[in-house]
Amino acid sequence: MYRTHLCGELRASHAGQTVTLAGWVNRRRDHGGVAFFDLRDRAGIIQITINPDLPKEVLDQVANVRNEWVLQIEGVVQKRPEGMANPKMVTGEVEVIAKSVTVLNASKTPPFMVNTDADLPDENMRLKYRYIDLRRERLTKNMVLRHKVIKFMRDYLDEQGFIEIETPIMFKATPEGARDYLVPSRVYPGQFYALPQSPQQLKQLLMVAGMDKYFQIARCFRDEDLLGDRQPEFTQLDLEMSYVHRDDVLDLVEGLFTKMIPAVAPHKKLYSTPWPKFSYKEVLERFGTDKPDLRFGMELIDVTDILAKSEFKVFQSALEAGGVIKCIVAPRSAEMSRKELDALTEVAKSFGAKGMPAVAITAEGVKGSAAKFFKEEELAALKEKTGAGVGDLIVFASDARAVVNKTLGGLRLWFRDKLDLADKSMMAFAWVVDFPFFAFNEETQAWESEHHPFTMPKMEDLPKFDTNPGDVYSEAYDMVCNGYETASGSIRIHRRDIQMKMFQMLGLSDEDIQTKFGHMLEAFEYGAPPHGGMAPGIDRLVMLLADEPNIREVIAFPKNQNGRDVMADAPSEVEPKQLKELHIKFT
Ligand code: AMO
Repeated sequence: MYRTHLCGELRASHAGQTVTLAGWVNRRRDHGGVAFFDLRDRAGIIQITINPDLPKEVLDQVANVRNEWVLQIEGVVQKRPEGMANPKMVTGEVEVIAKSVTVLNASKTPPFMVNTDADLPDENMRLKYRYIDLRRERLTKNMVLRHKVIKFMRDYLDEQGFIEIETPIMFKATPEGARDYLVPSRVYPGQFYALPQSPQQLKQLLMVAGMDKYFQIARCFRDEDLLGDRQPEFTQLDLEMSYVHRDDVLDLVEGLFTKMIPAVAPHKKLYSTPWPKFSYKEVLERFGTDKPDLRFGMELIDVTDILAKSEFKVFQSALEAGGVIKCIVAPRSAEMSRKELDALTEVAKSFGAKGMPAVAITAEGVKGSAAKFFKEEELAALKEKTGAGVGDLIVFASDARAVVNKTLGGLRLWFRDKLDLADKSMMAFAWVVDFPFFAFNEETQAWESEHHPFTMPKMEDLPKFDTNPGDVYSEAYDMVCNGYETASGSIRIHRRDIQMKMFQMLGLSDEDIQTKFGHMLEAFEYGAPPHGGMAPGIDRLVMLLADEPNIREVIAFPKNQNGRDVMADAPSEVEPKQLKELHIKFT
């Protein structure tokens, strides 16, 4: 038997017991002839004391031991002497007095230390030696948390009558707005499978098949630009239900997360239950984005009415062009330096604003670039409407509504980070509903689906399909949390005629529709039930629960920021023989 206990589970109640442990040397200290090892396994760390009275052959072995060697230790658990307990370690009340030490394996000096998170090495180095990096307590905890999240999801959905069904990875293109990863076929020259961007079509076909309530911990593949919250392959909790309306799906998912958070991450608070529900329009007006961070205030305030007659040229010309004037109030920012304000103006410009007028309310009066243009009564009305007081900076944007919202939404997050406004222990979930059905792509001058092409439009908007597509709203919804889109979903089209119309609106030819989606249209002719569902992104949720800055920290073997696996060095070239078999020739 390699071990009787795990290192991290020993407590004062084990005192007096003889135990056998196995693990890695986290740290070694030598003190007056006594060697102390912190021995680490997945469960935690325990202090091992090696006294000089042990047999010489044991001491000889111990002499060579360095960090990350793998040891087996037999010893007696002992309460640490008075005053020697380490309250920072869960095992800190005890130590193990070694009787024998066996070296199970030596280790080269690792490329970096895992016993501290200070001075983290370059990320590519961490990823190249991911199997060492994962020994780090922080990452081990993330893996355990991820496991608990997935287990909770499985158990909860099982209780709710869902069944887990696996769908193929080698399939046909399933569009979610990214490029596909393709797999060439050896048997069918010139033909390719596509890896699914999500199991969207397959889960809908499972509803046609009568599976009623389906879920899957689903791997999705998308060839798109990488960001901190995006990976080329990632995991969704994919689910679909038959005979449901929007709120049936939202209630199910809200129930899941409301129960899950206290169970898997008890240090996290929920912002509110039930979760707030915003329309897409409202959320843009109030927070300037469709994925609001609700952990702090600073909402966007429309002051067009107050400043309609302002002498400030910038405001006037924006209004003449049909725009609006809105502002946000930043606390503790009235004393921002000229230099800081200039830097902030550049941030505003990056969101499309032409400038960034601001006024600071100080004890000595109102200051700032726009202050001289305001009349007394305008200032009074402004203070009244915004609630701004001494110490606050009022930042304005005046332009077309979309530019104003985007700018102030972006600046709001800038202030959040600068002033540390968001409560880090909060999970501020909310729903965003009533999305527009189509988005007009200025570049291609064509309508695109705002969600995906299988989303049901609001039935009352169907007549506007041909006349005014921009006014058609959809049965789509997003779940947002702390400024991230954490899930999205919709009630689906289950009628062939509407699905056909949708594809036509997207500019697909009849031939294209048939080759790409003929199987879906055909399925809708064989008794497709009304259905809907959604897909929370597991990586993003675990990232938020673990307080990590990006999703790579909660994925065991992620790709780096350039989409490479730097450990195995993939993608990589393959044998010419393989290419030949696959009928692939480079020109
Ligand atoms: P959508 O494309 O919005 O919807 O994806 C759902 C959720 O998956 C997560 N996500 C990602 N996570 C990491 N890396 C990525 N590249 C990535 N892309 C998306 C997000 C997102 O909210 N089939 C639909 C769902 C449905 O309608 O049921 C879909 O895939 O958290």
